[in-house]
Amino acid sequence: MSVYEHKPAVAVFHEAHEAGIAAAKLIAELLRAKPNAVLGLATGSTPIGLYAELVRMHREDGLDFSRATFFNLDEYVGLPREHVASFHRFMREHLFDHINAMPDRTFIPNGMAADLQAECRRYEALLREYGPVDLQILGIGVNGHIGFNEPGADLNGDTNIVTLADKTRKDNARFFDNLDAVPTSALTMGIASILRARRILLLAFGEAKREAICKLMSASVSPACPATALRGHDNVALLLDAQAASALDAPACP
Ligand code: F6R
Repeated sequence: MSVYEHKPAVAVFHEAHEAGIAAAKLIAELLRAKPNAVLGLATGSTPIGLYAELVRMHREDGLDFSRATFFNLDEYVGLPREHVASFHRFMREHLFDHINAMPDRTFIPNGMAADLQAECRRYEALLREYGPVDLQILGIGVNGHIGFNEPGADLNGDTNIVTLADKTRKDNARFFDNLDAVPTSALTMGIASILRARRILLLAFGEAKREAICKLMSASVSPACPATALRGHDNVALLLDAQAASALDAPACP
């Protein structure tokens, strides 16, 4: 590791849901200290428990989201907002419909925009206008992607249009009728956009993530594993279950 790199903090939980609850507590602490905080959010299976806990905290403890701003990492190109697998729909179903977020403060890239390049520029400009993101939630792909920044991504890139890796399309086919229905491209905050957050929490659960987590911590920083770029940030914490953490002490990544 070079002197310019940082070692992310690592917390290992027995169960994935405990990590989700811990992440929700950190968000709640932030919102109580700074009600107009800017939150960066992810979709996928990983943050579902975290969002369920935020919804519970809103209902039972009165956690207030009315002054917060939300930025999602990514969206598929070409899926209408109502599509069952769109990230717009995911966010409404898992979070936004159940808390008091202001709709005009919930931002998700528009993968249906006629001019996708212009949409990327618009989204990056919004991030700069409202940002920096105070707390960014990330998952990680089995192939080491963060957001939809796939292997080979520009580690200095802003919000951009990306071609999805075959592995990612296969991994995400579970949300679609079949593999052919999975879009081939997406809009995603770039690695540089992600690294502008003040603080980053990456959650990862299950055996399938252990290689990516091992590489995040110890492979050379390189586009081959985009998550390694997180070592360029000085405030990153990984919240893992025992399976995702299981290769961290191994002499070499699996
Ligand atoms: C989702 C995102 C992706 C996912 C990653 C893991 O907005 O940006 O990087 O975090 O693909 O997905 P799951 O959680 O479904 O394993």
